[in-house]
Amino acid sequence: MDTSTAPGADHGRAADDISYRTRKWVKPEDLNANGTLFGGSLLRWIDEEAAIYAIIQLGNPRSVTKLISEINFRSSARQGDMIEMGLRAVKFGRTSLTMRAKVRNIISGEVILTIEEIVFVSLDEDGNPVPHGYTDITFDRDRLPQDTAR
Ligand SMILES: CC(C)(COP(=O)(O)OP(=O)(O)OC[C@H]1O[C@@H](n2cnc3c(N)ncnc32)[C@H](O)[C@@H]1OP(=O)(O)O)[C@@H](O)C(=O)NCCC(=O)NCCS
Repeated sequence: MDTSTAPGADHGRAADDISYRTRKWVKPEDLNANGTLFGGSLLRWIDEEAAIYAIIQLGNPRSVTKLISEINFRSSARQGDMIEMGLRAVKFGRTSLTMRAKVRNIISGEVILTIEEIVFVSLDEDGNPVPHGYTDITFDRDRLPQDTAR
């Protein structure tokens, strides 16, 4: 099973206003030698989740990871567990977007990971930062370029 997203839905929004959209099922290839979820797998998933979120918010498919702040692995997950990943935009800069991330175990409700800052930068065709022009969150897909929004 791979990512599962709910277009437009925001029923996963919790009190801290993080939207939980993508769920993952922890499989054997995602485990470390301790038999628990490998941090590298989780970071790959989070980076991809943040990329999709940033592209939707900034309306630019050329949005790249600039910075990931301290990552706090607070608990883990085991094979067969289901986890969900949540993001929230916390700052719209001129060319950048800063997000907060949280991952939790669906069954236990335990928080697995928190990241206070994930920064993505909007780039032009030459790979230089370009102003995105946005100052607040969209909960729709209204910013995607026409040839991307199908
Ligand atoms: C993204 C990249 C073009 C930015 O270059 P840069 O010289 O830092 O550009 P700028 O100084 O103009 O900064 C661009 C934005 O990033 C922000 N930024 C730069 N360094 C930052 C840092 N360490 N922490 C937080 N934000 C930072 C700036 O504040 C600016 O945001 P703003 O316009 O909203 O104020 C360049 O660093 C790059 O190509 N990095 C590789 C990106 C990549 O390939 N990522 C995938 C993983 S390898």
